[in-house]
Amino acid sequence: MSEEKKRRKMTLGKLRGMKRRNEPITWLTCYDYPMAQIMDASGIDMMLVGDSGAMTVLGHKTTLPQTLDAQLMLTQAVIRGTDYAFVVGDMSYMTYEMSHEKAIENAGKYIAIGCDAIKLEGGARVADTVEAMVKAGLPVMGHIGLTPQSAPALGGYRVQGKNEETRERLLDDARALTEIGCFSMVLEGIPWKLGREITEAVSIPTIGIGAGPHCDGQVLVVNDIIGYTDGPAPKFVRRYGDASKVVADAAEGFVADVKSGAYPDLDESY
Ligand code: KIV
Repeated sequence: MSEEKKRRKMTLGKLRGMKRRNEPITWLTCYDYPMAQIMDASGIDMMLVGDSGAMTVLGHKTTLPQTLDAQLMLTQAVIRGTDYAFVVGDMSYMTYEMSHEKAIENAGKYIAIGCDAIKLEGGARVADTVEAMVKAGLPVMGHIGLTPQSAPALGGYRVQGKNEETRERLLDDARALTEIGCFSMVLEGIPWKLGREITEAVSIPTIGIGAGPHCDGQVLVVNDIIGYTDGPAPKFVRRYGDASKVVADAAEGFVADVKSGAYPDLDESY
């Protein structure tokens, strides 16, 4: 009889326990069904249906054009392909800023289709909204530092928290989100020392992207780690594959075989 432990669905409680035990949390973005199945089998703890899908799968230049409907469609596909990982749906631009009621209504749509939690960007700026959502019973994850939806207001995609004033502000944001009841938060694009400081200052798990090695977990955009992008990757990305080459080789092989008459042969025909 195998001693192997039976894998169980990841939960909020288990994520908290991982922080307590200092066990690193693994998280990748995911945008479709087959990718979700593959990633779920890899043993990943969490999947994020990021609004980065606007760029990685829909070809937009930023995350801002992502609509709620597009985001929900990608999220449903990922949920269908996932049995074990904790799935977080990313609330797209301007779907939680208008009013608390609208934020709760929109967040509820993600939970209703089977999401384990939702994530939204911002610190003190969205504290009241987050509080209302938590009171409504929604599992909310924060996201501070370099928040791509505010890139125009932040002056572009820049590392945040580099001076004393912004460092203090981010620490305050992190404490506020924790007090309000976020169960976890993303730290994006901040100096590693600040990533460590925030992680030590809060009781909830911090998941870093470009925030150094001391966060409770790490998240990356899956297209970046598999080499399925057209632009240069940021400094913090580590690449584990070359999916663009796999696709290019297969497509070129198919084109060559059809042009030369090598495909299909009679074994591949009815
Ligand atoms: O949308 C996304 O991919 C994200 C990650 C950068 C955390 O929010």
